[in-house]
Amino acid sequence: MEKIPFILDTDTAQDDCVAILFGVCDPRADLQAITMVAGNVGFEQQVRNALLTLNVAGKLGDVPIYTGCSQPIMREWVSASEVHGDGSGGLSMDFEKAEIQKEHAVNAMLRIVNERPGEVSIVAIGPLTNVASAVVLDRGFAKKVKSLYIMGGSENGRGNTTSSAEFNFYVDPEAAQIVFTAGFEDIHVLTWDPVTLRDATISRDIYNEKTKSPTPIGKFFKSVCDATLDFNESVGVDGSTHPDSMTLATMLHPELVEDSSPMRIDVETASELTRGYSAMAWDKFGLNANATVIHKVDHDGFFELLDKLLATQTTPTLEIREPDGSTL
Ligand code: BDR
Ligand code: CA
Repeated sequence: MEKIPFILDTDTAQDDCVAILFGVCDPRADLQAITMVAGNVGFEQQVRNALLTLNVAGKLGDVPIYTGCSQPIMREWVSASEVHGDGSGGLSMDFEKAEIQKEHAVNAMLRIVNERPGEVSIVAIGPLTNVASAVVLDRGFAKKVKSLYIMGGSENGRGNTTSSAEFNFYVDPEAAQIVFTAGFEDIHVLTWDPVTLRDATISRDIYNEKTKSPTPIGKFFKSVCDATLDFNESVGVDGSTHPDSMTLATMLHPELVEDSSPMRIDVETASELTRGYSAMAWDKFGLNANATVIHKVDHDGFFELLDKLLATQTTPTLEIREPDGSTL
């Protein structure tokens, strides 16, 4: 089986952790680097969440972690800690025993792509600050990236941070607009509405079944996802949401995509009311498409992959502690 080399750009909390797990456990994945960007929760906590995730998979030290932009290009950072808590359910480990790379994430992204132009893809599951910064540093960068998979926006639909904006595009709308106008050859976008809300969400009953898995990954999954499920239900989203891991899964398993089409995407940067809104134009408007928008994903097929992931036996390298001091 030919493996797919890629960089995962992440604001690690909740489903970003699940995406990292797919990135190190899926047989088709060849994860070259984890690059961290400001988003969901405090930057240091995001790094801790990424380390915990590699550790639970028994992969600590196997995939380098680079820290990148710790704030959006022009805006104050906005957190989603009310959604995700700390993003890993209060787990801890001896973080000082784990290594973080010294090279800046944007430099690492440029270097890795330059070493193999046209071969390495990027899966961006946080605000697009790092990817946009790479574009600004090297105007040739976009053409050298094989494919760019983005979790963000809504297809002219509901937001989750404001009525019109999804979190990743809301946090750094300028970065998103830079990316969509940079000339990437092959962008794929997985949205909040409709795709996450319909295809990447499981009800609490199904979640309860899945979280019975006694493996370290199974227990970790419950710990990182519980807070978000509670939050979702409090705002009328009926279940546990998995947009980031589904975005990566559509790159690794393109057969999961049931419907998609080329569209022209622009992200609102001028208005405060609709900041981060993703305008997605279909062919009637005669605009050149700059992305493939995923309209529908195979829900059952994706959650079967998740079941396999949760059943995977791993041996964490370092002990992982629950908030009450017990071992995970
Ligand atoms: C996106 O925002 C974050 O909270 C999630 O990790 C996901 O990337 C959903 O809007
Ligand atoms: Ca994310």
